[in-house]
Amino acid sequence: MRVLSGIQPTGRPHWGNYFGAIAQYIALQNNEQSFYFVADLHALTTIRDAQVLRDNSHSAAVDLLALGLDPQQATLFLQSDIPEVSELTWLLMTVTQMSLLEKCHAYKDKKAKGLAADAGLFNYPVLMAADILLYDSDVVPVGADQVQHIEVTRDIAQRFNVIYGTEALTLPNGQTLDATAKVPGTDGEKMSKSYGNTIEVFEAPKKMRKKVMSIKTDSKTVEEPKDPETCPVFALYKLFAEEAQQAELAGRYRAGGMGYGDAKQAVYEAALAYFAEARERRAELEKTPDTVRDILRDGAIVARAKGQEVLERVRSACGLSAHQ
Ligand code: TYM
Repeated sequence: MRVLSGIQPTGRPHWGNYFGAIAQYIALQNNEQSFYFVADLHALTTIRDAQVLRDNSHSAAVDLLALGLDPQQATLFLQSDIPEVSELTWLLMTVTQMSLLEKCHAYKDKKAKGLAADAGLFNYPVLMAADILLYDSDVVPVGADQVQHIEVTRDIAQRFNVIYGTEALTLPNGQTLDATAKVPGTDGEKMSKSYGNTIEVFEAPKKMRKKVMSIKTDSKTVEEPKDPETCPVFALYKLFAEEAQQAELAGRYRAGGMGYGDAKQAVYEAALAYFAEARERRAELEKTPDTVRDILRDGAIVARAKGQEVLERVRSACGLSAHQ
């Protein structure tokens, strides 16, 4: 079974990225083969500064390694180190209907806001399909917001296979975790860089505390009993705490006499403790940028070999390289 997933280097990873996706990468990394990459080509739809993109991409790789991705087990690479993915994107575009892409949320949302979308954003899901299909991926661990893109990937692959009467493309399955597919942000909506409601994994403690303290709650007084199940503070606490600790805090909610400030302090302390080791590992990795670059270079060699094999199959299925 081949596992594959990617993360955009558009900002530092937040709790949603970690619990929805990165934790799955780590849990699945000792599979037969697992490929994880930094989606720098996708990030070009939003970042237009070369140095910022370079720095962010390196930093995203450091983040993944610090959070437990083990290059001895998994293959870690930069999307743009595999030029085959861009060729496959074109081949897939030729069998992708516009109507399919018009339904995809990133493009639809931008259009709904009256903003001009460029062709890169429109074709974003085709590049993502190429990312997945280029490596014969079976399982794609993601958060809920990417499930639509995996459905699109299956549609495109199926259409290609039917048109050319081939089985050149392997149909992937998305995998989400029930409890953490949609981690809420500080306003209770889905945590997302574009909503400005994120708390980053490696946030400086003071800033992290400030953000946690800003989580929106209702205006119940300290004395009043509270409902943990509808409270975003409690939803975030669940990410970090064992069941016994969760039950204990839920009891304090229901009993009354506890203010939201206490619950927020509990979230802050639990989050700091949860990521303490990763924070230390990250500080160490920052001292050895060449090691990280070597890991990415080695990863690209492994990923590219697989990508070339699949692309050759696809080229041949549609009649390219006719002289061979
Ligand atoms: P990106 O960079 O926006 O997010 C990376 C991963 O984090 C998940 N995620 C969340 N999960 C739970 N709750 C949240 N609030 C939350 N916010 C984000 C995302 O679902 C994702 O799994 N298009 C992708 C990157 C990509 C990709 C791919 C993924 C490019 N090619 C091929 C898988 C396979 C993206 O923008 O993810």
